[in-house]
Amino acid sequence: MPLPMDKQMNPPLIQFEHVFFSYHSMPVLHDVSFTVESGEFMGIIGPNGGGKTTLLKLILGFLRPSRGCIRVFDQTPGISPQRTMPLAYVPQAMRFDRDFPISVEEVVLAGLLNHLPWYGCFSKQDRQVAHEALERVGLEKLKNAPFGTLSGGQAQRVLIARALVSHPQLLLLDEPTASVDSQAEADIYAILKELKGEMTILMVTHDLRAAIDHVERILCVQGRVFSLKPAEVCEHFVFGLYHLPIQSTPLTTP
Ligand SMILES: Nc1ncnc2c1ncn2[C@@H]1O[C@H](COP(=O)(O)OP(=O)(O)OP(=O)(O)O)[C@@H](O)[C@H]1O
Ligand SMILES: [Mg+2]
Repeated sequence: MPLPMDKQMNPPLIQFEHVFFSYHSMPVLHDVSFTVESGEFMGIIGPNGGGKTTLLKLILGFLRPSRGCIRVFDQTPGISPQRTMPLAYVPQAMRFDRDFPISVEEVVLAGLLNHLPWYGCFSKQDRQVAHEALERVGLEKLKNAPFGTLSGGQAQRVLIARALVSHPQLLLLDEPTASVDSQAEADIYAILKELKGEMTILMVTHDLRAAIDHVERILCVQGRVFSLKPAEVCEHFVFGLYHLPIQSTPLTTP
């Protein structure tokens, strides 16, 4: 059946249709279908090993589905050249060697590596863009500090700045507030709140309260994927019992 005209002209930013994914023979995602519209701020929740990181890697084109169709910016991820997709990724718990001699500014500039000319030098303008990205995350004063000396929360904010330098329209974050203290978590949410509306944001989180407070829609990933409004998140989820919204029919009409 042909798609309605408005869907043809404005396809969703992300579209999964009956997607299956297995690592070798181990099934991870099963018959996943959902869409994300441009400008949404989505939370992704689910149990450990449920497939949240795998879902992000499929969107990024790092992995290909075993079956089904994925469209991102109306292209097939991984097949179309990555650089034509205006998206950026903050990976889960990036491990780094604290003694590796790299400054905060250099980490941020690494987000522009795709745009480097053949002679491989960052321009004054690139450094200005990096400076502005550091200002957005409130860390411009630490530009010259060794990255390895930062706290966990500061390091996470630098990685967000690194994602922002390419001016993405889609920002994917995998547990940006895991293992940071509550002040750092509040700082990160304040940054995301600022970015909301400017770009589409998909954020994996284990923190249900933050998901409910900050996002407009939630994808629950546990092999299958279902979509919820924050109000439909149930207290059972805290105990790892993720389920579809329970439909309740009002007993009386107002
Ligand atoms: N490269 C890989 N090779 C084989 N199996 C993998 C690989 N990466 C992940 N898996 C397995 O796939 C399943 C889904 O992993 P994934 O990392 O997507 O889960 P997750 O929901 O992000 O979990 P967590 O909350 O712990 O980050 C897990 O059982 C995991 O062990
Ligand atoms: Mg994960």
